[in-house]
This record gives sequence, C-alpha cells and structure tokens, in this order.
Amino acid sequence: MLKQLEMAHWMLKDIIKTNDVVVDATMGNGYDTQFLAELGANVYAFDVQEEALNATEKRLDDAGIKNQIFEKNLSKLLTEPSVNLVLSGHEKLSEYVKEPIKAAIFNLGYLPKTDKSVVTKADTTLTALDALTNQLVVGGRIAIMIYYGHEGGMEEKNAVIKWTSSLPQKDWEVTSYAPLNQIHTPPILVLIEKRK
Ligand SMILES: C[S@@+](CC[C@H](N)C(=O)[O-])C[C@H]1O[C@@H](n2cnc3c(N)ncnc32)[C@H](O)[C@@H]1O
Repeated sequence: MLKQLEMAHWMLKDIIKTNDVVVDATMGNGYDTQFLAELGANVYAFDVQEEALNATEKRLDDAGIKNQIFEKNLSKLLTEPSVNLVLSGHEKLSEYVKEPIKAAIFNLGYLPKTDKSVVTKADTTLTALDALTNQLVVGGRIAIMIYYGHEGGMEEKNAVIKWTSSLPQKDWEVTSYAPLNQIHTPPILVLIEKRK
C-alpha cells in the first residue's frame, strides 16, 4: 500500500502539468518543493523559518533546479515558470500568489530535528486553506498531511477535519487516507478536489 505522503504525491502528480501554478504551503527541508518543481510547475513555497529556505535552496541547487528567494512581497508577477521560496507564513499566500492555483500541499506540524516550538497552527492553516480554495481551479487539488502527535497537533487536526468536512459536497470532493490499526499517531492525509 502507498504511504500517506506517497498517496499525496500520486494524487497531485495525476493533475499537475508543466507551467501550472502550485503551492508548497510548508516548505521545511524542501522535499515537496523539489517534487513539485520536478513536475515542471511554477512553484510558490512558503515557510516562516529562514533555515527552511536555506535547506530548500541547497536541495534545489544540488538538483540543478533554478530558484529564487523572496523575503518581501513579490512586487511583480513572474512570467516564467520558476520556483519561488517565500519567507512568509502561508496565511499570507494571496499577497504573493495572484494566479489561479492548480494544486497545493501542506505537511503540518514541525520540522524534524529543529525548533519544535515553530509549528503550524490551526488558525493560520485555516486562513491559508480558505485563500487556496478561493484561488483553486476546477479540477485542482489540495493535499494536507496532518501530523498531530505534538503539543497543539490534536487541536489543529480537529480544526482542519471540521473545516474541510464542511465544504459543500456539490462543489468539493473531500476524502481522507490514513491507517486505522497503528498504535501511535500516523499522519492523516486529507485530499480536497474542486468539482466546479
Ligand atoms: C512538517 S514541516 C514541513 C516538511 C516539508 N514539507 C519537507 O518537505 O521537509 C512543517 C513546516 O511548516 C513550517 N511552518 C510553520 N508555520 C508556518 C506558516 N504559518 N506558514 C508556512 N510554514 C509554516 C515550519 O517552519 C516547518 O518547516
């Protein structure tokens, strides 16, 4: 069986085409940013930690992927497909991404082996989801990997599941993928697709 992250990537790869605008809402060490860039998409990746941008920049450089860093608002729209690493919370994504969005991915929680106090939070995650769903194209998808074993994680998990579950069925398909018999707190994948 596919792991949750493999399933998330599979569901995104299924729809992303060259030049599509996509969002990595939680850049971290840049694994998802690289995955999206290698699909030929125009990527906007967000993180609040400078370490994340540095790690991702290195990962992309090592992979030969052109990228640029933004620490302030993008003053112009980018005309060529590119990878844009933005030092900002995903809750401000609509200040940076003006185009219709084809897909997005979140890996909620904290960056392993770094400061565990910097975690995603329910209110900012929901703000970002609200902005994303407003800009998502028909047929677009959002994959949310919910890690919730840490302090505050359960609150965020409950908030995300409640919010996504309330999206109107006629416009949105919302589904989840998670193991049921594991003793710890394996991540839950929530997938959203815009129907019309
Ligand atoms: C689980 S890690 C992401 C892992 C990442 N996808 C990867 O491939 O390595 C969660 C990340 O979310 C970041 N984060 C926390 N709050 C955020 C926010 N409001 N906006 C964007 N990123 C945030 C953390 O700094 C951390 O790097």
